[in-house]
Amino acid sequence: MNNNRETSDPHPMLQAATRVHRREHGCGAYTFEDGGGLAAISRTFQPARILELGTALGYTACCLASGAPGALVDTIEGDPEHVDIARRNIAHANLSDRITVHLGDFARVLPTLGGTYDLAFFDGFAPTLELLRSLTALLPAGGVFVCANLDLASPQDSRRMKSLFADVSAWRLHASLEGGGTTAWVKH
Ligand SMILES: C[S@@+](CC[C@H](N)C(=O)[O-])C[C@H]1O[C@@H](n2cnc3c(N)ncnc32)[C@H](O)[C@@H]1O
Repeated sequence: MNNNRETSDPHPMLQAATRVHRREHGCGAYTFEDGGGLAAISRTFQPARILELGTALGYTACCLASGAPGALVDTIEGDPEHVDIARRNIAHANLSDRITVHLGDFARVLPTLGGTYDLAFFDGFAPTLELLRSLTALLPAGGVFVCANLDLASPQDSRRMKSLFADVSAWRLHASLEGGGTTAWVKH
C-alpha cells in the first residue's frame, strides 16, 4: 500500500464551503475529508477519463481534475441545488471545460455515459455491491477504483465487497484515505 503522498489540498475553500452548505441546507453533502490524498491518487495515475458518483458542491471533482491536468471528469449528482452550486464552483475554479456535472440518480445516469474510465470514485452515501459492480466494470486493466464511505455499507454488502477486493488476482490495494473509510484499488 502506498501512503507516501503529497497531502496539500488544491481546493480548501471548496471543502469549507461544502461544510457551511451542509450545516445550512441540512442535507447529505458531507464533504470528503482528504482532497489532497485524492488529488495525489489522480496525480500518480494521470487518468484520461474520471467518473465520480456524488458531486455535492464540486470539491472532489475539482481535486481529481487538479491532480491530472489532462483528465476529463464526469460527475453525477441527484440534488438539483447541489448541481447548480457545483457548476458555479467549477466555473470559478476554471475547470468547466474539463468537468461535466450530470443531474440525476446514479443508476439512471450511469448507463447513459459511454466508454470506459481510467479512474472511478464513489462518494455517494452507502456503497452497494450492485453499484460497485457497475462501476468497476467500466474500468480497464490498470484502472483505479476509489471507494468512500465503506463503513456505511450494509453488513452483507460490506462482507461481499471485502471478498471482492481481497481477490489479489483481480485487484491490488493502492492506498487508504480518511483513516481507512476510503480505499483505492488498482484493477489487474
Ligand atoms: C458525501 S456527498 C459527496 C461529497 C463530495 N464528493 C465532496 O466534494 O466532498 C454525497 C452526494 O451524493 C449525492 N447522492 C447520494 N446518493 C445519490 C444517488 N443515488 N444519485 C445521485 N446523487 C446521489 C448527494 O445528494 C450528495 O450531494
